[in-house]
Amino acid sequence: MKYSKIIGTGSYLPNKVLTNFELEEMVETTHDWIVERTGIHERRIADETETPVYMAEMAAKDAMEKAGITAKDIDLIIIATTTPEKMFPSTACMLQQRLGIGGCAAFDLNSTACAGYIYAISIADKYIKSGACKNALVIGSEVMSKVVDWSDRSTCVLFGDGAGAVILSESDEPGILSTHIHADGTHKDVLSLNASIGKPFEVEKALYVQMKGNQLFKLAVNLLGKLFDETLEHNNLQKSDVDWLVPHQANIRIIQSMAKKLSLPLERVAITLDKHGNTSSASIPLALDKAVSLNQIKRGDMLMLEGIGGGLAWGSALIKY
Ligand code: ACO
Repeated sequence: MKYSKIIGTGSYLPNKVLTNFELEEMVETTHDWIVERTGIHERRIADETETPVYMAEMAAKDAMEKAGITAKDIDLIIIATTTPEKMFPSTACMLQQRLGIGGCAAFDLNSTACAGYIYAISIADKYIKSGACKNALVIGSEVMSKVVDWSDRSTCVLFGDGAGAVILSESDEPGILSTHIHADGTHKDVLSLNASIGKPFEVEKALYVQMKGNQLFKLAVNLLGKLFDETLEHNNLQKSDVDWLVPHQANIRIIQSMAKKLSLPLERVAITLDKHGNTSSASIPLALDKAVSLNQIKRGDMLMLEGIGGGLAWGSALIKY
C-alpha cells in the first residue's frame, strides 16, 4: 500500500512584529483583553514586498532544503490561501514559474479559509496514494492584514501574516493515515469576506473579514470535538494513541478545549498563536514546522491536525510523522 509522508517542513514570517500594545494605540482595546480572550500577544505583518507568492516561495525553499530535494522533484503544487496574490493566475502557478518547474499540476485552494490547509493536505494525499504524483508541495500563505478592517477591534486584533510549507512524498511506510473534510453552508454567514465579482469593490465592508466570533467559537468546539471521534474511530485508535495536536491557531480557549478532548497536556500541543495570531491557512504548517524545528515533534509521533474556517468548512488529518 502507498502512503504519503511528510519529508520536510518550512516556513516564512514577515519581519514586522505588531504587538498588542501597539494595537492599543490603534483601536479601543487592551493587551490584557486580547491575551485573556484569545491568547495572542503579537502577530507578523507583511510589507509590500512580502506578498503571498513571495512568502510561499521562501517557505517552499525552506521545506525543500530540509527535505533534501530540489524544485525539479516536485510534481504537484497546492497553495491554500484566502488572500491569493491575484484572482488568477493562481498563486501556485506564479510560484511554479519562480521555481522554474513548469509542467506539473499547480493550483490554489482559496475558499475554505482557515480549513484550507487540511483540505489541501487531503487532496495532495489522495493524488499521491493514487499514484498520480510523487512529491507534492503543499503550502499555506496568507496576508490577512490586507483583509481586516483596522478600525474594527473585534477582528483586527486576531489575524497575522505568514506562510508554511510541507513536502508530502510517496512512501511505503505509514504517513498520513486518514483525512476527514466536511462543510456546512447553512453556517455561511458566520465567517465571510463578501467581495463579489461584478459588484463594486467600494461596497462598505465587502473587502474585510466579517465574523460572528461567539457563534464560530461554539461551532468550532462542538464540530472539532466530534471530528476527533470520527478520525480516531476510522483508524480504530484511541485518544491515548495521539502524541501531538497540531491545531489551527484561532483562539487559545478553543485549543485548550481540543487538547482536553484528546486528554493531551498543552505541552503536547503545537502552539504559535501567541506569536503569530491567526494566519488562516498558514497556521497549521507554521505550527508544525516550529514544533519539528524545535525537535519537539519527532519521527514516529502520531499527529492530529485540525482546522475550521469560512463556509463553514472543517477537517482533520491523522499523521504518523
Ligand atoms: N478589545 C476589547 N474589547 C473587545 C474587543 C477587543 N479587541 N473585541 C470585542 N470586544 C468586546 C465586545 O465588543 C464585547 O463587548 P460588550 O460585551 O460590551 O458587547 C465583549 O468584548 C465580548 O465580545 P465577544 O465577541 O463576546 O468576545 P468573545 O469572548 O467571544 O471573544 C473572539 C471574541 C476572540 C473573536 C472569539 O469569539 C473567537 O475566537 N471566536 C472564534 C474565532 C475562530 O474560531 N476563528 C476560526 C476561523 S477564522 C477564519 O476562518 C479566517
